[in-house]
Amino acid sequence: MQKTIKLLKKNNELRVIEEALDIYLEIPHIAYAEVKKKDGGKALLFTNAVDKQNNKTFDEPVLMNIFGSYKRCELLFGRSIESVADEITKLLHMKPPAKFMEKVSMARELFTLKDIFPKRLKGEGVCQKIKYLDGDIDLSKLPVLTTWEQDGGPFITMGQVYTQSLDGDMVNLGMYRLQVYDKNHLGMHWQIHKDSSHFFDQYQKAGKKMPVSIAIGGDPLYTWCATAPLPYGVNELLMYGLITKNPAKLVKSLTTPLYIPEDVDYVIEGWVDTNEMKIEGPFGDHTGYYTLAEPYPVMEVSAITTKKEPVFLATVVGKPPLEDKYMGWATGKIFFPLLKTTAPDLVDYHMPENAGFHNLILAKMQPHYKGHAKQFMHAFWGAGQMSFVKHAIFLDEKAPKLENYGALTSYILDRFTPQCLFITEGILDALDHSSPESLVGGKLGIDMTAAHKVEAPQLLGDEELLAEVKELIPDAVELAQFMRRCKNPITVISVKKQKNVKEYFDALVTLSTHIRIVVFVDEAKNDVHNPYMLLWRVTNNMDAQRDIFVSGLMVGIDGTNKNQLDNFSREWPDDVECTPSVIASLKERGLFDLDTKLIEKYQI
Ligand SMILES: Cc1cc2nc3c(=O)[nH]c(=O)nc-3n(C[C@H](O)[C@H](O)[C@H](O)COP(=O)(O)O)c2cc1C
Repeated sequence: MQKTIKLLKKNNELRVIEEALDIYLEIPHIAYAEVKKKDGGKALLFTNAVDKQNNKTFDEPVLMNIFGSYKRCELLFGRSIESVADEITKLLHMKPPAKFMEKVSMARELFTLKDIFPKRLKGEGVCQKIKYLDGDIDLSKLPVLTTWEQDGGPFITMGQVYTQSLDGDMVNLGMYRLQVYDKNHLGMHWQIHKDSSHFFDQYQKAGKKMPVSIAIGGDPLYTWCATAPLPYGVNELLMYGLITKNPAKLVKSLTTPLYIPEDVDYVIEGWVDTNEMKIEGPFGDHTGYYTLAEPYPVMEVSAITTKKEPVFLATVVGKPPLEDKYMGWATGKIFFPLLKTTAPDLVDYHMPENAGFHNLILAKMQPHYKGHAKQFMHAFWGAGQMSFVKHAIFLDEKAPKLENYGALTSYILDRFTPQCLFITEGILDALDHSSPESLVGGKLGIDMTAAHKVEAPQLLGDEELLAEVKELIPDAVELAQFMRRCKNPITVISVKKQKNVKEYFDALVTLSTHIRIVVFVDEAKNDVHNPYMLLWRVTNNMDAQRDIFVSGLMVGIDGTNKNQLDNFSREWPDDVECTPSVIASLKERGLFDLDTKLIEKYQI
């Protein structure tokens, strides 16, 4: 991490904050605002972290937002993300060499691959310079942050979690948040679909304790690798070797059989009793909502080791855009060649940052036959973590660039009819809060690979249309129409919800000459003129099987919070918000400088 700090400084990508700042909300709120600035702001180094509640100070600095811009991401990768993707494509398409020079060139390439395999070293690593064992173990000595007011406690947010299968044949590196319960217990938030959870099942069946070693810091690429969605059984550190052309150098943990990179800043070792589960959370998450408190495994810490001068690495998750936008961007690019092996006619794909990654994917393909787009939808919904995708729009290769949202939206809306919709059911990310039951729910595919002829509706102005809507829906509050020049404009209506939204939609059918796609949101906390956050809210809140209605050419989408009016029996979580008194105090001290326009735009 000290090397990373130097690298960031040299490239003018680091801001050092020396004021005393609380690990409870203050540091996370500053980092949350910083990454929302133009080009992701700067990486932040907090050199004077304190725990006000317990009257404690910390020697080590807290480093945040290191991946928080395209530039910083490539800086930390040490090469362009494109070049990593190209290298993977090349490896996947290696053909037997025909000529002598081709053989030489291939041999050279294959020779570099010897460096991708992690190397196990003998002896101790620099990460084990300082050791805390037995009675000296105390997690509260680490500056672990509490990000949001309703969080269940402090969470380690950038922990590299090293685990191995029961027989020791497979090792895994995953990034899962870790709740600090007390001085020697941590909650392991590996969700049910993730690799460490599969290993946990093996230990549980065998009635054995599971060893876990958690590293923090070191080369930032270890942290990115921990988030990489590699298939079950593949060690993520192979990716480290492939990217850096240097094998990860590992040393054995002191009290578990697991190997960890020798140059990380901290190692927290321990054992998970597979008979014990404890309530984990709530935690303000990537979705911008709190994930509910649920039982997860617990690790009893058996050792903490650190470097001589460790740096504590952390991140903040919440409403977009945040650091995970950039980490996800790198993942998307690097995994494209691998996804193409399942979907060969895929031309490009993109996950808009404001739809929280899995809530919306845009994909461009070369359609060759009837049903080809549907075949791709099923392939996506069956491929590893891609199967968490809730809503997918497939376009043909003539569509504009996927990142060109204006042109792309026009292209879609000018060709759309309700025939393009395909609704089914599949697995969902454990974080999803909107489906009637957890882990499974509606999937929406929109096949835009064929052009449909559509007539434009007769448009009314926003005010005139709102007056007509209020006649039919007295609970309607505000209305805004988007993409009015397209054949299928989008009308957003905010409501003070008193009924199931389907009833509102049915009432609107008499206005079908003026309305094509209508989206309902709650009046509270939504601005109908803020499409960035509307997309975030609606893709989060909808379940396609329950929340899409069709009548002729008219399509309705229910983006409201669900409750008993919808027969929704799960708890509906709050979305995350900065604590106003903390922001006010930071502003007073000149430590919070986010532009008011951005505060409003991102609804912080
Ligand atoms: C900042 C951040 C926090 C994350 N937190 C969790 C988490 O708490 N639980 C989880 O299962 N996945 C979490 N993930 C996603 C996993 O890291 C990701 O799915 C990874 O591929 C899992 O590795 P595995 O497939 O080896 O289990 C997080 C990702 C990021 C970027």
